[in-house]
Amino acid sequence: MPSAPMPSASMPSHFLSPEDQTFVARLLGQMTLAEKIGQMTQAEKNSVRPGDVARLGLGSVLSGGGGNPDLNTPASWRAMVSGLIDESLRSRLKIPLIYGSDAVHGHNNVVGATIFPHNIGLGAARDPDLVRRIGRATATEALATDVRWAFAPAVSVPQDVRWGRSYEGYSQDPGLVSELAVALIEGLRGDGQDSGPSVLPSVKHFVADAAAVWGTSRRIDRQALSTDRTLASADTGQGMAKLLDLGAWQIDQGDALIDEQTLRAVHLEPYRAATKAGALNIMASYSSWQGQKLHGHRYLLTDVLKGELGFQGFVVSDWEGVDQLGSDYGACVVQAINAGIDMVMVPFDYERFISALTQAVESGQVGLERIDDAVSRILGVKRSLGLFGQAHTDPALLEQVGSAEHRLLAREAVSRSLVLLKNDQALPLDPLGPPILVVGQAADDLGAQCGGWTVTWMGGHGPTTTGTTLLAGLRAVAGEAQVHFSPDGQTDDGQTDDSQADEGPPDRVYPVALVVLAEEPYAEGMGDRADLRLHPEQLELLERARQRCGRLVVLLLSGRPLIVSEQLPGWDALVAAWLPGSEGQGVADVLYGAQPFTGRLSYGWPASQGDLGRGADASLLFGIGDGLSVPLKAPVTG
Ligand code: GLC
Repeated sequence: MPSAPMPSASMPSHFLSPEDQTFVARLLGQMTLAEKIGQMTQAEKNSVRPGDVARLGLGSVLSGGGGNPDLNTPASWRAMVSGLIDESLRSRLKIPLIYGSDAVHGHNNVVGATIFPHNIGLGAARDPDLVRRIGRATATEALATDVRWAFAPAVSVPQDVRWGRSYEGYSQDPGLVSELAVALIEGLRGDGQDSGPSVLPSVKHFVADAAAVWGTSRRIDRQALSTDRTLASADTGQGMAKLLDLGAWQIDQGDALIDEQTLRAVHLEPYRAATKAGALNIMASYSSWQGQKLHGHRYLLTDVLKGELGFQGFVVSDWEGVDQLGSDYGACVVQAINAGIDMVMVPFDYERFISALTQAVESGQVGLERIDDAVSRILGVKRSLGLFGQAHTDPALLEQVGSAEHRLLAREAVSRSLVLLKNDQALPLDPLGPPILVVGQAADDLGAQCGGWTVTWMGGHGPTTTGTTLLAGLRAVAGEAQVHFSPDGQTDDGQTDDSQADEGPPDRVYPVALVVLAEEPYAEGMGDRADLRLHPEQLELLERARQRCGRLVVLLLSGRPLIVSEQLPGWDALVAAWLPGSEGQGVADVLYGAQPFTGRLSYGWPASQGDLGRGADASLLFGIGDGLSVPLKAPVTG
């Protein structure tokens, strides 16, 4: 039975006290091989059969994107999670399971939870304290449902914004990524606050997930699409064939063809910062480095991460990440565990994993010391979270899910994330001036402003959860009569003097038209896009609006910079709003001048389609740090 490494002068002190290290060692000493392997197993909640958590001693269960209870309410979430935790306490050694979920911009799988701006917007706000407060609010809403593990922060440093996960990154500046990631870790843990238990952050995806090169992804086998259970769960509404033609899965999970110096200077830095800040969970990347998959990369997972950086927590695989190592599942398991994976997000056929690892240990392909190291790490983290003493959280926290306080925080974050990139005397709007025309269905689409990882994996359109659309926010400030809405740019609901909604005169010219354009919601490789120019129907909408206004303001709801150089000269103002989340009021606050424009780009904005993927050689329309300010208006009631 390996004794936990005792702190020495050269080694970092262990994150557990000597007493807790003794607790872990003693518990490990009581465990059978089956119970140890059970702790290394994470199953997804729709696959776990009743009784198996107790019977197999599973260490964790997760909700993948959209892994929701049938009735998606905070109370139903809590009942689902608490039931699984209770079952784990019926295992022989009563080791509590830890439940994980992608709470990446709030507790976003849960209908009614506060949805914060995605990380690309928080990067533009560039305020660690704001991110720390968001982390704590997110943790509170996760804890309300008994969830103790959030698969966040992503510390990706996106290089090619054609990547569908660009919005999950804070910035292309690794220093800013490190600073904001540590803030989120501290917020999720509740450092220095008497605000309840910690939620375990998961720093992801180790390493250089965002350095993959376009065209190198091997994620998709078109022949096997019909049997790909994970992709089948991605209800994109657009059809896989069309998405693949648009570039889906061309770069996500691809190969980072960079040298080690670049890997260390750009992509390893955030992990060094997170480890130094005491991060205790890291998720391995699907991607490869110089042709070798990270899930089987012993040098990076063990020698660099656990050795050189001194990471003392546990490494979790990504969803089916072990399976991607090859065609022989047993060999994949051997390679992944020996490389340094400690817990496997199986997530479907968990008994196949348990059997494969058991055979690997019995045949000597995986040493028992590797198993004991992995399980010690897992038990140590559970101990540090206090799970052994308090397996459940306080159900009274449920009243804080989607609370007014959290929504106010999200509204502040939205306002701070907006970046003003052009303004020829168009903004701020005057709430007491003549009516404005808002054009584009995206202005009244909560799903579009939340983006992916919201209630479902891909996200969706319309009222997918609760919140305030951008249109509703504008009308809350200026009043219905001052904000006319035209989804298609042709007819609008302009109020007549008898305040009956009717079709305003199509040729009516407004002093200002605000055109809101959105990307189709997406997540991961489903959002890889070859072409980031505006679509023909968006150009037509802009043209119709142009004919009906004096000044044209364009607002983008996007997970990344889009190619707009050709159209920009015809616009009077451009606002990057990213994916702001549920509190669209935060956009109205800034557009009407109640809050200042303070956001600054945390990504370079490519000048043309041809500049995409060209890294430092790309011409930029706007650079990191760009963003304009405007004088504030007098505070507006409402
Ligand atoms: C996904 C993502 C990862 C996420 C995990 C669980 O495939 O790569 O970011 O945390 O699976 O949903």
